Amino acid sequence: MTLSLQSTYKLVSGYEIPVVGFGVYQTPSDVTEKVTLKALELGYRHVDCAKVYGNEKESGAAIRKSGIPRSQIFYTSKVPSSSMGYEEAKKAIEESIAAANLGYIDLMLIHAPYGGKEARRGTWKALVEAQKAGKIRSLGVSNFGIKQLEELEAYIQSGGGGQIAVGQYEIHPWCPREDIAEWLRKRNVIVEAYSPLVQATRMKEPVLQTLSQKHGKTPAQILVRWSLQKGYVPLPKSVTDSRILENSQVFDFMLSEEDMASLKLNEYAPVCWDPVQDCKI
Ligand SMILES: NC(=O)c1ccc[n+]([C@@H]2O[C@H](COP(=O)([O-])OP(=O)(O)OC[C@H]3O[C@@H](n4cnc5c(N)ncnc54)[C@H](OP(=O)(O)O)[C@@H]3O)[C@@H](O)[C@H]2O)c1
Repeated sequence: MTLSLQSTYKLVSGYEIPVVGFGVYQTPSDVTEKVTLKALELGYRHVDCAKVYGNEKESGAAIRKSGIPRSQIFYTSKVPSSSMGYEEAKKAIEESIAAANLGYIDLMLIHAPYGGKEARRGTWKALVEAQKAGKIRSLGVSNFGIKQLEELEAYIQSGGGGQIAVGQYEIHPWCPREDIAEWLRKRNVIVEAYSPLVQATRMKEPVLQTLSQKHGKTPAQILVRWSLQKGYVPLPKSVTDSRILENSQVFDFMLSEEDMASLKLNEYAPVCWDPVQDCKI
């Protein structure tokens, strides 16, 4: 299948998700509108934001100002760990919707599983209500371990309602999370890969340098391409115009089976936070 920046996958909710997202974590709020507009101008149609990033307002403004029909852009936000539980989540969801000011949010994730079982259930209940009210189109989770995924699945099946459409995780060759990806894949849940560039900490690794020379592509492009070929939705972040473009130019080459095998590293070295390991309850 030939993909492009505007290709989409179908979610279990019935909506379409563009195969690459533009991340805005750690993007200062005073540059968010400008860089997000740049990304949209270059062809990105998917913006990955969160309440804790402090730039929902600016991300939404860029989407509104882009002149691209709202229906063609996919916007994600997340319920923060500090807002777990029904009442708190309800409030956080309303605040995110108001801040982005886009009418609806395409995808709302629970940012992390912290807070315990009851808080997770309450948060999911608030998400399902917002979805039923047409304020959110698709629901998902981020950083949930298999234990919490199974707990949520049981809750959904026992009448909690909703569907896990997306699972978002730190995933790259140094943190592949094959077990979680497999769990999600079996249920047709789309896997989003955050920190797909390993936060630029591995660009000089010999394996990336070799593939980079072989394909005439940058290490960042190799990483985004790896993610796409694994069937994931990578969410590269940059505040640099040339890199925003570079990270999107990944549809004119293919990693061979051998290339992909060379990126199978048997490592577990996350670079971001790691609630999957840290959340024990
Ligand atoms: N759900 C979660 O818990 C969670 C956690 C983390 C991230 N995320 C999402 O995933 C997105 C991406 O993850 P991330 O921001 O952690 O890291 P990332 O995308 O792996 O890396 C971003 C870093 O790489 C640099 N960079 C970007 N393109 C480059 C290129 N072509 N060559 C060299 N360096 C490049 C950026 O610098 P410049 O910006 O200076 O260009 C920035 O320092 C986030 O923005 C967010 O949307 C979600």
